[in-house]
Amino acid sequence: MSKITQSFVFLSATLVLASVAYAQGGGDKAQPSAKASQMGNTGMNALQDRTASTPAGRLFVEKCAMCHRQFGMGTVLLGRRMPKDQAMLEPRKDLTKEFVIMAARQGIGNMPRIPRGEVSDAELDQIATYLARGKK
Ligand code: HEC
Repeated sequence: MSKITQSFVFLSATLVLASVAYAQGGGDKAQPSAKASQMGNTGMNALQDRTASTPAGRLFVEKCAMCHRQFGMGTVLLGRRMPKDQAMLEPRKDLTKEFVIMAARQGIGNMPRIPRGEVSDAELDQIATYLARGKK
């Protein structure tokens, strides 16, 4: 090998090693920030199921679900004093229309009362019927 070829081989080997080291270093550096944003997502920005298949269900999603579906304050607090499978309102079978309307208009425990300007009587009636599934 000529001197020039030798130094070229040496140089390119050094370059390859350097770029591998750089890529690894870059990878290591990129990981913590990616993990940090994922952790952020499991907290504040975690996705709540916002789907509904009926107009009343959509009203519930719009007016109540931020507190009463996944990660909601209502779900968390009710989970402390109810059996775990009753922390969310929609699957429950014990809710009556009167109770839902009373809870919404007067407030209950840590839930603030919901005024008519936010949810009209007609809307609350639909939501309560939806949660009570036909019970009076
Ligand atoms: C700002 C958050 C928030 C919103 C919005 C909200 N709630 Fe609540 N709700 C709560 C909290 C918190 C509790 C638990 C109260 C406690 O036990 O201290 C609760 C409890 C309830 C309960 C009582 C359940 C039980 O078994 O005691 C009902 C019923 C209820 N909410 C209905 C509704 C309806 C209907 C809507 C929408 C019109 C609604 N909530 C909107 C926070 C909210």
